[in-house]
Amino acid sequence: MARILTGIQSTGTPHLGNILGAIIPGIELSKKKENEAFFFIADLHSLTQIKDGEQLRQNTYATAATWLAFGFDTSTNVFYRQSDVAAEVCQLNWFLNCYAPFPMLANAHSFKDKSEKLSDVNAGLFVYPVLMAADIIGYDANFVPVGKDQQQHLEMTRDIASSFNHIHGDTFVIPEGLYDERVMIVPGTDGQKMSKSYNNFIDIFLSDKALRKQIMKIETDSTPIEEPKDWKTCNAFKLYELLANDAQIEEMKTNYATPGYGYGHSKQALFELICEKFKTERVRFNELMENTDELDRQLAIGAEKARAVIGKVLAKVKSKTGY
Ligand code: AMP
Ligand code: TRP
Repeated sequence: MARILTGIQSTGTPHLGNILGAIIPGIELSKKKENEAFFFIADLHSLTQIKDGEQLRQNTYATAATWLAFGFDTSTNVFYRQSDVAAEVCQLNWFLNCYAPFPMLANAHSFKDKSEKLSDVNAGLFVYPVLMAADIIGYDANFVPVGKDQQQHLEMTRDIASSFNHIHGDTFVIPEGLYDERVMIVPGTDGQKMSKSYNNFIDIFLSDKALRKQIMKIETDSTPIEEPKDWKTCNAFKLYELLANDAQIEEMKTNYATPGYGYGHSKQALFELICEKFKTERVRFNELMENTDELDRQLAIGAEKARAVIGKVLAKVKSKTGY
């Protein structure tokens, strides 16, 4: 059985891009019989940037509720909040700090990038990759599915683990990155990559009215309603195509070629498709957000399973380093 592990940044309610690009594929991966998934919400990493406790908590709940609403099975996998295992993961972080070369951390693209952009350049940002290494090697992970942007962090994890193993003998499993080569980039309402920071996202968990409003914001050209329209260049069509079946896609292409069919109609069709396709997930998400005790309960079960694993690794590290 291969252990796949990944950390999920909790920056708010996951949008349609996160759902199609990361959550649904992650759940598929966890369902494969040969895999056991450890998926956790990286809320300690979030503290490097978010200092509002209420916001941190809400982000974690919204992220957890989305994974559960989409059917992530917490009975066969391990789903937890990083901060629930803080005692163990932060201890391991310290040990690993002492095996992480300063120049390696100083060369991290993501640290350089953030230290240019952010006004709060704290030491947490600097050791971010070491906490990430503790997240991974603390659980004997074999594979780590992440985006290409995390490749350098994963290489650092491997370096830190190897250098510890080199000094103290075989201790850590050396993990491998599973880099997502998929080209699926979900476009936002303005046609750029859907992203929270561009404010072009679609939040499928909004009320019908607010969701419809977001969809109606999709930017389209000014072809008059009585002229045929080009589906190839239309943002509403691109989103429709990601969700619809073949017959619906063909029908929509015909609609675009038909004078009198306007962008308002295709956006309405997209709205209806989203409502129909994610009917149960939208209900379930809202139920879970109303019942955060249930989310806490599920996350606590995950934390207990996670703690048992990292506890053993930590004990090994302490014994090898002479504590
Ligand atoms: P982020 O919140 O940008 O760190 O993204 C979290 C996960 O969602 C990552 O695995 C991203 O690859 C994925 N993701 C974010 N935005 C999109 C998008 N517009 N299309 C496809 N996947 C996305
Ligand atoms: N740094 C990752 C990101 O920005 C999140 C993360 C934290 C992570 N710890 C991890 C990913 C461990 C994989 C494994 O997306």
